[in-house]
Amino acid sequence: MYQSPLQSVMAISNPIACIVLLIISSWCVNGQLSPTFYDKSCPKALSTIKAAVAQAVAKEKRMGASLLRLHFHDCFVNGCDGWILLDDTPTFTGEKTAAPNNNSVRGFEVIDTIKTQVEAVCSGVVSCADILAIAARDSVVELGGPSWTVMLGRRDSTTASKSAANTSIPAPTLNLSALISSFSAQGLSRKDLVALSGSHTIGQARCTSFRARIYNEYQINTSFATSLKANCPSTSGSGDNNLAPLDLQTPTVFENNYYKNLLSQKGLLHSDQQLFIGGSTDLRVKKYSLHQKTFFKDFKAAMVKMGNIKPLTGTKGQIRKNCRKPN
Ligand code: HEM
Ligand SMILES: *[C@@H]1O[C@H](CO)[C@@H](O)[C@H](O)[C@H]1NC(C)=O
Ligand SMILES: *[C@@H]1O[C@H](CO)[C@@H](O)[C@H](O)[C@H]1NC(C)=O
Ligand SMILES: *[C@@H]1O[C@H](CO)[C@@H](O)[C@H](O)[C@H]1NC(C)=O
Ligand SMILES: *[C@@H]1O[C@H](CO)[C@@H](O)[C@H](O)[C@H]1NC(C)=O
Repeated sequence: MYQSPLQSVMAISNPIACIVLLIISSWCVNGQLSPTFYDKSCPKALSTIKAAVAQAVAKEKRMGASLLRLHFHDCFVNGCDGWILLDDTPTFTGEKTAAPNNNSVRGFEVIDTIKTQVEAVCSGVVSCADILAIAARDSVVELGGPSWTVMLGRRDSTTASKSAANTSIPAPTLNLSALISSFSAQGLSRKDLVALSGSHTIGQARCTSFRARIYNEYQINTSFATSLKANCPSTSGSGDNNLAPLDLQTPTVFENNYYKNLLSQKGLLHSDQQLFIGGSTDLRVKKYSLHQKTFFKDFKAAMVKMGNIKPLTGTKGQIRKNCRKPN
């Protein structure tokens, strides 16, 4: 009878063989992340990051939203590897000025501050990609949302790609099927799409991101659209950067109001309202609007899944000293 090498070893079946096997298999999974990654190498990493996030959010509540978004954009472009933090140089164009990010993503100075503090407690150990993942979780917690265990051990990329950023980050103009495809390309389900979109219960968007929706669409609450027009002129180029809250009532509290807004056609972005337009995601939106616990449970699971997108581990990539440039 054919025996695989594994079965042969097991057939010998003595405790030493089993221990050897265990060690080998733990090497084999070095492509995976672990919640205890820094427990020995930098035991103060998590508390240092938590305190710095708390301070930044206390200073400006919107920063919690901005930090959460940084992790999302990082993960959607070739995996969670800290690309988004790289500055452009004359010979290198990163993601910061790609269309979905330019004049929109923020929080880089806060990440710099956190990185400096983490380097002070243990130099060259904690990656920028992991800092983004932890800061995203801590931000959600600071704003009243759920907590979860962050998987760790990501390493940082040495390059970035503007064209990948352009195509991988979903645009607010997408329809439901395009949103589903965009998430599916990252290994994320329809359920993950709906749960993660609940992030828009915090933060702000620029007029340029919702102008077409408030002037041209009919699947929008009329009084809601009217109130937004006051601060977002119809002419492109005027008031482009004027802000409106993604959740009109409580943009600095992480709860399930986002879904309640969708039920009364008050999603700010076209892409938001697509989740509740009589399509395949309607039921889930309704469920989350009624049961915050279910939303939180699914959101946590989806955040862990998103944080697992193609990490660099083992000897791949590097631990950047300065999140803005490769070593
Ligand atoms: C479903 C597809 C998504 C689309 C089309 C989308 C699009 C956008 C847009 C256009 C903005 C406003 C940007 C601006 O006007 O400057 C925004 C803001 C934001 N997004 Fe998303 N997003 C999506 C999913 C997500 C996910 C999955 C997360 C987090 C896990 C997220 C977190 C945020 C946050 C927190 C803000 C507010 C940021 C701030 O105030 O600084 N978004 N998003
Ligand atoms: C990014 O925004 C700045 C400031 O508005 C602008 O000058 C620059 O042309 C933009 N870059 C790209 C690549 O769109
Ligand atoms: C990114 O998209 C913008 C607008 O959608 C376009 O003008 C630009 O050429 C694109 N850049 C790259 C590198 O693909
Ligand atoms: C959604 O958008 C895609 C790409 O723009 C388009 O091909 C498709 O027909 C649209 N689907 C629906 C149902 O509108
Ligand atoms: C639109 O908003 C108004 C005011 O908040 C609300 O009374 C109404 O029910 C909403 N309309 C729809 C269609 O949900």
